[in-house]
Amino acid sequence: MSYPYQISSKEAYQQAYQRSVTDPEGFWADIASHFFWRKRWDKVLEWNFKEPKIEWFKGGKLNITENCLDRHLGTLGNKPAIIWEPNSPEDDHRVLTYRELYNKVVQFANVLKNNNVKKGDRVCIYMGMVPELAVAVLACARIGAIHSVIFGGFSAQSIADRLIDANAEFVITCDGAYRGNKEIALKSVIDDALVQCRFVKKVIVLTRTRTPVSMIKGRDVWWEDEVRKVETQGNPDCPAVEMDAEDPLFILYTSGSTGKPKGVVHTVAGYMVYTTYSFVNVFQYKPGDIHFCTADIGWITGHSYIVYGPLGAGATTMIFEGVPTWPDAGRFWEIVDKYRVNILYTAPTAIRSLMGFGLGPLQGRKLDSLTVLGTVGEPINEEAWHWYDEHIGKKKSPIVDTWWQTETGGIMISNMAGITPGIPSYATLPLPGVQPILVDDRGVEIEGNDVSGNLCIKFPWPSIIRTTYGDHERCRTTYFATYDDMYFTGDGCYRDAEGNYRITGRVDDVLNVSGHRIGTAEVENAINMHAGVVESAVVGYPHDIKGQGIYAFVIFQGSHGDEKLNRQDITLTVSRIIGPIAKPDKIQFVNALPKTRSGKIMRRILRKIAEGEMDKLGDTSTLLDPGVVDDIKDGRI
Ligand code: PRX
Repeated sequence: MSYPYQISSKEAYQQAYQRSVTDPEGFWADIASHFFWRKRWDKVLEWNFKEPKIEWFKGGKLNITENCLDRHLGTLGNKPAIIWEPNSPEDDHRVLTYRELYNKVVQFANVLKNNNVKKGDRVCIYMGMVPELAVAVLACARIGAIHSVIFGGFSAQSIADRLIDANAEFVITCDGAYRGNKEIALKSVIDDALVQCRFVKKVIVLTRTRTPVSMIKGRDVWWEDEVRKVETQGNPDCPAVEMDAEDPLFILYTSGSTGKPKGVVHTVAGYMVYTTYSFVNVFQYKPGDIHFCTADIGWITGHSYIVYGPLGAGATTMIFEGVPTWPDAGRFWEIVDKYRVNILYTAPTAIRSLMGFGLGPLQGRKLDSLTVLGTVGEPINEEAWHWYDEHIGKKKSPIVDTWWQTETGGIMISNMAGITPGIPSYATLPLPGVQPILVDDRGVEIEGNDVSGNLCIKFPWPSIIRTTYGDHERCRTTYFATYDDMYFTGDGCYRDAEGNYRITGRVDDVLNVSGHRIGTAEVENAINMHAGVVESAVVGYPHDIKGQGIYAFVIFQGSHGDEKLNRQDITLTVSRIIGPIAKPDKIQFVNALPKTRSGKIMRRILRKIAEGEMDKLGDTSTLLDPGVVDDIKDGRI
């Protein structure tokens, strides 16, 4: 066994699970004792879901970077912490050992201090997938600043909304980022965002693409210059700031069913313990293994399973700057062979997209280093699961289908590689510490097996969301008020005869497009910003590659009759307001939307039309004007 808390058999899983339910405090205290604490906690858990108020390892003092870096230096100092593969296979890769990563984090933490960043300050990070992104994240954690990473695909407006919500006075960015054959001018997007955010005091800019940028005197500084200043100060050490177990570690914005993204807050200790524990157990990490998670650090998957979980476990983690299909659809497989990757963790959407290229891109690839495969972000269809199993894992690598959320911080329901069996399209079993419950719409528990319901969790786990930044009431109403005394996930779920869980998708107005969460209300708000739009309604529909596509029904009163151009204008508006990830796949112009007499849009009907199930519209008699539906059906695209 490689880690003291590593589960090594099915029986051990069952025992651990049992104990985690009967003695949760003892269970987590044992695991937490394998981390480095400046001061041990006074109480393992204090909680109520009413407020909610959840405190893990109360009174404990620590710094997560001492756990991710300092404590490994003695044994792993010369071992690779991060392997970075650039966008272009022609460019040189980089390897940072634990010692080198530590040095860079300490150095950049001093840069932050020199720029007056203090404990508790919010720092927005908007960068491409370069090692410095991980360095920036960890440097914030070292000095107790709260990072808020924003995915590079979000627009200036989205960034501004997040900066304002978090009142973030500091920004770290790059001149630009490479993604496939594209060059994205990140700093210029930041500049556009900052027009609305005069309160931002400092922008630190890393050179990556040499895209021309405007540097504003007094506000913008170059990363490299700032590092040089620290070097001339003789590269001072940067002792980690002592953090309370429940001090915030980061904010990560995510979509919900209302129009405004919410800042999910995770705190230091519980998040650290849970991400490391779940990383080791789900992937069955063995020291020396190379872990390749293809997500972007701008999403929770990257936070938990590129940065914190792996580094907490002293693992070797990969950061890939590029995309799976450039320069060709064999890019992942090339990387797997080049570094002899052991664990590959990716999204069903990527698998489906690569499947579409056939087996050609796999020619000449060995893939024989792989031992564990993983998926995350959306339900995986059986066809994709089998393709992944057969052609990538060669039927010898277990696939872990990991269900979790930004709010859960870490993997909640999943098989454990080689320990508990995987079943195509099932996340299978809860991790120790996770107590799922299925309820009906009134919140009544649905007991027994072979049943479906709304998925809730009835007991806290260490990395549960603590609050939504600046608006605790929103956290309560969104997650803890739908049903009494439980956390509501927003997902529907089936439990089979053997007790395995299969996630069936969102039961709220949240879409899952290519594994990314997008609220329909958010897209509608963006569409409605277009001058010619009177009203719109957005629903999801099955999409072969993305899982779900975005279908928009729009009442339009534009000045010109060129439908194609109008569609393009609306798409561009969404791109500007949210970002390219939220662009509708289909836009249908309609004269009216199906509404009830009380004025509520009947999305159920629109969803059926978008799905092409026109004969299953159900009862339309409560509609104000049932004739509207026929018009919409006729105009379906
Ligand atoms: O609907 C579930 C789906 O993704 C949602 C969470 O999205 P997000 O917070 O962006 O985090 C994604 C990465 C953890 C969930 O509510 N989801 C996530 N993983 C799975 C999944 N659906 C089915 N199977 C999964 N393995």
